Amino acid sequence: MRHLIDISDLSVAEIDRLLDLGEDMLRRPEDYRRSQQGRILATLFFEPSTRTRLSFESAMLSMGGSVLGFPSPDSSSTAKGESLQDTIRTVSCYCDIIAMRHPKEGAPIAAAMKSEVPIINAGDGGHNHPTQTLTDLMTIRLEKGGFEGLTLGLCGDLKFGRTVHSLVTAMSRYPGVRFVLIAPPELRLPGYLTAFLREKGIPYEEVEHMEDVLPRLDILYMTRVQRERFFNEADYVRLKDTYVLTPDKLALAGEGLRVMHPLPRVNEISPKVDDDPRAVYFKQVRNGRYVRMALITRMLAENGGEEAGHEH
Ligand code: CP
Repeated sequence: MRHLIDISDLSVAEIDRLLDLGEDMLRRPEDYRRSQQGRILATLFFEPSTRTRLSFESAMLSMGGSVLGFPSPDSSSTAKGESLQDTIRTVSCYCDIIAMRHPKEGAPIAAAMKSEVPIINAGDGGHNHPTQTLTDLMTIRLEKGGFEGLTLGLCGDLKFGRTVHSLVTAMSRYPGVRFVLIAPPELRLPGYLTAFLREKGIPYEEVEHMEDVLPRLDILYMTRVQRERFFNEADYVRLKDTYVLTPDKLALAGEGLRVMHPLPRVNEISPKVDDDPRAVYFKQVRNGRYVRMALITRMLAENGGEEAGHEH
């Protein structure tokens, strides 16, 4: 059985095919509206979420499938002390596929070992978030026409930002990509990822000020400082407003720049930027629904089901 724990579980060719299918679903959702009838998705979220959980549910409902899940772990038997393994083993008897989010890094691997159905990692601690990366890749491809030769600026909490970790892993597989890592010293990208970039010979630079680099970026990927991963509140308060993108700063960038953010945002992008045509973070939200429709379809097909049928 195939699970999706890390974005590198998918080959570049598989990602391309998923994006093709996601884009077709975006253009012609009516063709897929009964393609997963009779199938059940379980969403098991042990951490808060708006976009990931609801986009997975919307994706399955948009294809005629059903969804089940608990609104918070407090209302499940986790609150009585049930282990993650027992919860997964139980829920996998009730559904065809599980999307799970957990605060512990590696929890989806433990879940996959006990599950009778495919597991999708919907975010594990400060580690990875592969389906956000599929959303990001679909957005970049739609906005820029491809990935080759792009300069990506990643800004904010690169240490704990799991979406950044998965995006660096994914984008490093396309030729000519360069990274500009914009972070204060305390929130730099983890050493294992910069070592990975060096080993692969992928150009990257680490800077502290976004103003210095904005004119040469194709993508500016803003991130929230991840309060929930800090060990003390004082450090969070000191660092939380290090970067705030305003219209004045955006004026330094070219017309071709695209501003992305996995959301939720707190203060790092002024709402005054939202109407700038270069701001595409709400398009990202929309794309997340369709690329998750594609992912559910492919994973169910690979694990014993049938590929989505077009209704012609
Ligand atoms: N991007 C993202 O993971 O958002 P949620 O935490 O709202 O799911």
